[in-house]
Amino acid sequence: MEVATKWLGATLDYCEHFGLQRMPFADNVNPEFFYRTQTHEAAFVKMMMCAKHHKALGLVWGRSGTGKTLLAQMLLSAFGEGEFIPVVILATPGMSKMGLLACIADELEIPRPSGRENTQGYLDMIHSYLMDTYSRGQRVVVIVDEAHFLPSEQLHMIRALTNLETPQEKLCTIIMLAEETFPRRLRHKRYNSLRSRIAMSSYLMPMARAETEQYIKFRLMVAGSTENIFAEDVYDPIHSYSGGICREVNKLGDNLLLEAYMRSEPRITRTVLERCLQEHCLT
Ligand SMILES: Nc1ncnc2c1ncn2[C@@H]1O[C@H](COP(=O)(O)OP(=O)(O)OP(=O)(O)O)[C@@H](O)[C@H]1O
Ligand SMILES: [Mg+2]
Repeated sequence: MEVATKWLGATLDYCEHFGLQRMPFADNVNPEFFYRTQTHEAAFVKMMMCAKHHKALGLVWGRSGTGKTLLAQMLLSAFGEGEFIPVVILATPGMSKMGLLACIADELEIPRPSGRENTQGYLDMIHSYLMDTYSRGQRVVVIVDEAHFLPSEQLHMIRALTNLETPQEKLCTIIMLAEETFPRRLRHKRYNSLRSRIAMSSYLMPMARAETEQYIKFRLMVAGSTENIFAEDVYDPIHSYSGGICREVNKLGDNLLLEAYMRSEPRITRTVLERCLQEHCLT
């Protein structure tokens, strides 16, 4: 009954109840919440090095929800303006070769090739843009999120882009972010030449038990928490249920706060956790 009244009151924001300034487990990719686990830090440093050392191609892969898109955003904000011109493009299942190039051109604000809106037209425009930026001492970094969606021909287009070079070096760095099965696909001999250009690769592992706890505490702190809202004995089960996957931890964390708020509980205890898992069919 009490629960129903609260729902009707429509104050579904639990932040006030827990003394938080904002939602700690919101389903978005906000670099402010970036927690440097070992695996995320390693991937981030490798991506930076890939660009700084003028490598042609890099690959970061991992299960859904492990933080690939957040890493792309981290890289964007780390590069800012100056030596690097970073752009992120989102590959989609139906993306054509020209669609891929048009997307890169749009992000770089390269005008459409007049009278030659075809693959070669775009390649030429991108090439001349890269030459210009190179001569100004800048380097383009293209981050291709969801690269596993690209069919074979489009992946070969990525390879073609890595072929654009001066006698001294490659003109741009491309970093592919992809799901866990992608490297297995690249083992096929049709991808030999693409694979051989991958100068850096990094696998995003799920978080370890201790990292899951630190991750939760960190996100709560960034959201403005000054107390231990989660009881010590809930971290083990949260880690087991989430498998250390960031998105799963967020989903569960958010539901736990909502559950406790609706029941006017001040903390996330084992009882709140068990009720929440039942309620949301998570068991
Ligand atoms: N290191 C981290 N620190 C803080 N939050 C993280 C971290 N890694 C991931 N997250 C959060 O987890 C959620 C999922 O991350 P993200 O969307 O980047 O995963 P993904 O690997 O791109 O997933 P998908 O393959 O489904 O696109 C996001 O809310 C993100 O903010
Ligand atoms: Mg993603």
